[in-house]
Amino acid sequence: NPVVLSGCQPSGQLTIGNYMGALKQWVAMQQDYDCLYMLVDLHAITVRQDPAALREATLDGLALYLACGIDPNRSTLFIQSQVPEHAQLAWVLNCYTQMGELNRMTQFKDKSAKNVNNINAGLFTYPILMAADILIYQAQQVPVGDDQKQHLELARDIAIRFNNLYGEAFTVPEPYIPEFGARIMSLQDPGRKMSKSDDNPNNFIGLLEEPKKVAKKIKRAVTDSDEQARIYFDPKEKAGVSNLLTLLSGATGRTIESLVPEYEGKMYGHLKGDVADAVVALLEPIQQRFVRLRNDRAELNRIMAEGAHKASERAASTLARVYEAVGFIPRP
Ligand code: AQP
Repeated sequence: NPVVLSGCQPSGQLTIGNYMGALKQWVAMQQDYDCLYMLVDLHAITVRQDPAALREATLDGLALYLACGIDPNRSTLFIQSQVPEHAQLAWVLNCYTQMGELNRMTQFKDKSAKNVNNINAGLFTYPILMAADILIYQAQQVPVGDDQKQHLELARDIAIRFNNLYGEAFTVPEPYIPEFGARIMSLQDPGRKMSKSDDNPNNFIGLLEEPKKVAKKIKRAVTDSDEQARIYFDPKEKAGVSNLLTLLSGATGRTIESLVPEYEGKMYGHLKGDVADAVVALLEPIQQRFVRLRNDRAELNRIMAEGAHKASERAASTLARVYEAVGFIPRP
């Protein structure tokens, strides 16, 4: 089966955006692919994290992956920092990436504009670590949202360059655009994507939030001032309403086209009520499974250890090939 790799940053509580845009697809992909799913804590520290909060968010993330349906017997599930080969390959790739290439990355421009007090080198070289994450497993397909397309393109360029110099060291990865992928927008500012590290908690729905709070946030979501309060899907003209429809579709499994006619002549409040009910119904069983998993630290440790071991074994063979290619002497 083709190798697929993806991950979330434990830079806060995973959101309904992470679920609908990533986790839900990952679960489905376990059927047909050889999947590797990780929590990318090395990436998370490009922005300052409180150490205790990072540990908690990583364990929460692991339990959430499991609660959402990632099966550690079918997929390789691991914490990035527990597989040292990622950082080792990233260093080598640092030396095969040009400053000019990194300078063109738009996410760096956005993130450094947001973090003016901590524009560290890791933030700048983040795409190289991402390239290492992908190339070290010879991944053929990488599920990516719009914001990561440029980084995947760079990973491809680095792989091709390295292969041209030293022979076929890396599989050149392709982007995988999921059929039913959804982009969830911020509740108060639906022109921007929903982000777990948003300063305003009213902008996102955490997967572990209390149902009452979830419903409240949805009911307060920004819509628009269309006097006729028409409900239809148009992310440009009706960003807030379209986001509510996307959430409803993602939570019920129904298409947006089949939902829209049901709201003819109805008010925004009616739609919000339905979205709140559907999202709460989606989250409740996930939260119940989460609590059970999160409280069993011995079981989480076992899953982490096994995942890191499986991942390391695979990563080590690529790293050995790369070290040999560039001229390093293997440890005797
Ligand atoms: N709003 C979203 N809608 C759809 N998909 C989303 N993803 C994230 N937000 C949305 C997808 O989730 C995966 C993991 O993302 P990530 O946690 O590694 O980083 P991110 O995309 O930067 O997510 P955040 O929440 O915005 O993180 P912070 O705030 O820490 O930067 C990816 O597949 C992503 O597409």
